Amino acid sequence: MIILDDLTLAFSGNVLFEHVNAKFLPGNCYGLIGANGAGKSSLLKILSSEITQSSGNVVIDSSLRLSVLKQDQFAYDEFAVIDTVIMGHPELYKVYAERKAIYEKDEMTEDDGVRVGELENIFAEMDGYNLEAEAEKMLSELGIPVSLHEVTMDKLEAGQKIRVLLAQAIYGDPDILLLDEPTNQLDYQSVLWLENFLLEFKKCAIVISHDRHFLNKVCTHIANLDFKKLEVYVGNYSFWEQASQLAMKQKKEDFKQREEKVKELEDFVRRFSANASKSKQATSRKKLIEKLRPEAIPETSRRYPYINFSVGRPCGGKILTVENVSYSDQGVQLLTDVSFTLDHHDKVAVVGENSLSKSALLDVLAGKITPDTGSITWGETIEKEYFPKDHAHLFTNNSPLLEWLAQFAETVDNQELRGLLGRMLFSGDDVFKKVGVLSGGEKARAMFSKLMLAKANVLLFDEPTDHLDLESISSLNKAFQAYPEIMIIVSNDFELLDTVCNRVIEVSPVGMIDQKTSFDDYMTSDSIQKKRAKIVTA
Ligand SMILES: Nc1ncnc2c1ncn2[C@@H]1O[C@H](COP(=O)(O)OP(=O)(O)O)[C@@H](O)[C@H]1O
Ligand SMILES: [Mg+2]
Repeated sequence: MIILDDLTLAFSGNVLFEHVNAKFLPGNCYGLIGANGAGKSSLLKILSSEITQSSGNVVIDSSLRLSVLKQDQFAYDEFAVIDTVIMGHPELYKVYAERKAIYEKDEMTEDDGVRVGELENIFAEMDGYNLEAEAEKMLSELGIPVSLHEVTMDKLEAGQKIRVLLAQAIYGDPDILLLDEPTNQLDYQSVLWLENFLLEFKKCAIVISHDRHFLNKVCTHIANLDFKKLEVYVGNYSFWEQASQLAMKQKKEDFKQREEKVKELEDFVRRFSANASKSKQATSRKKLIEKLRPEAIPETSRRYPYINFSVGRPCGGKILTVENVSYSDQGVQLLTDVSFTLDHHDKVAVVGENSLSKSALLDVLAGKITPDTGSITWGETIEKEYFPKDHAHLFTNNSPLLEWLAQFAETVDNQELRGLLGRMLFSGDDVFKKVGVLSGGEKARAMFSKLMLAKANVLLFDEPTDHLDLESISSLNKAFQAYPEIMIIVSNDFELLDTVCNRVIEVSPVGMIDQKTSFDDYMTSDSIQKKRAKIVTA
């Protein structure tokens, strides 16, 4: 059990949360949610003793083993993959590492022989052989083949590293598991694996996530960090969302009613306080006013951008024909024989285990790269806009945000641009921020305003939710649903894909699948899984 007792955290006078009291119990999985910058990561760092609170206490039984999913992907670069996982169990790792070092020597001394004998005994007592096998099994289930278990971490690509770090966090059955945005950069299969792990996990887990599908599937409780407080609710994210919106609505209605009543009473007092016969009534009403006067509703740190992609002119008859497109990058095949034709109202989820293949397809469609073979023919009426996964290159000229946006506008005046940026939550002086210093989430919102200006009739998105908070994701989801024309989307937000898309195109280095179906049906249909097995490459 974890107890937070009157916990307060402030950084140089800026209070993130104060006087927080909460309990986290075994058997539960807590989804820790809150706006960007609310202090979620900092709270987990307090629990893992990485930083110290400003005041108050955290009580965690010292016999409990606490484990954390590390965000720093480069921390283990010089260690072997399997060693990195076993480090998740520090006592076992000590023995394991000493033993391994002796075995790796060219020549063993007599002392080494004696020591290694001792270590083997300790290792066996700790159930080390089973645990070692367990680490290998976990890695294989997460799609890290045996051939990679002994290579050093720096040889892995980002998606693989995060899976190894996940295995490390989970390794050796910790009592308390802290995960900070674990599903970022995880592929679909690994997310499923983690979901199942957490559903089976009997201990206490606290998970920060912006992934609504994930939060709904695994969380028994939602811990909401807002108004500088932490409140724990029973239920998953959807349940919390509905309950909290209802509660906020009631609060506002109550506030309004009280305000009206107070105004009425004040009028009475004003009229009759000079009137001797009514002065008694006026006095009692004054008291009532004090009782009824509503307390100001506290400011939430949550803000929803208003995203809305409108269309200048609708798509004509012909939209897009892709014929036999293949593409390789520096000798690595990414796309093979991709062909399809888009129809009216298609909203396509581009899926696949290889994120390079997916990005290559969008780059090819957007005209950013030329395929090795094949052709791409857009209809004459088509105006397309692209949100690439990596859009850092668009923010290199260090101009103020308003100026940056103006370069994409033809006829719009500054007032209108400011309005647009305001809807993307850049208010007041924010519009003069240099674009180079914008955070990931802010850059994404700046990109949305660029796309909103264009009024295109085909929108291409590659991982638009990567740096967004739940509020922005929810606004983006609504905008995607409302958009009347063609969309092609790569996203690891499965809720987004499932609620927006009516067609799925899967690409891999060796082939493709094209199905008019929802994302959920695609991922769960047996017949499609058989087809998928044929084009998935390890
Ligand atoms: N060591 C630190 N010193 C000063 N400010 C910090 C420090 N760590 C985080 N912050 C600030 O505290 C706020 C909360 O950060 P964080 O806990 O990462 O938020 P969240 O995970 O909810 O997005 C941010 O504004 C961040 O810039
Ligand atoms: Mg964080």
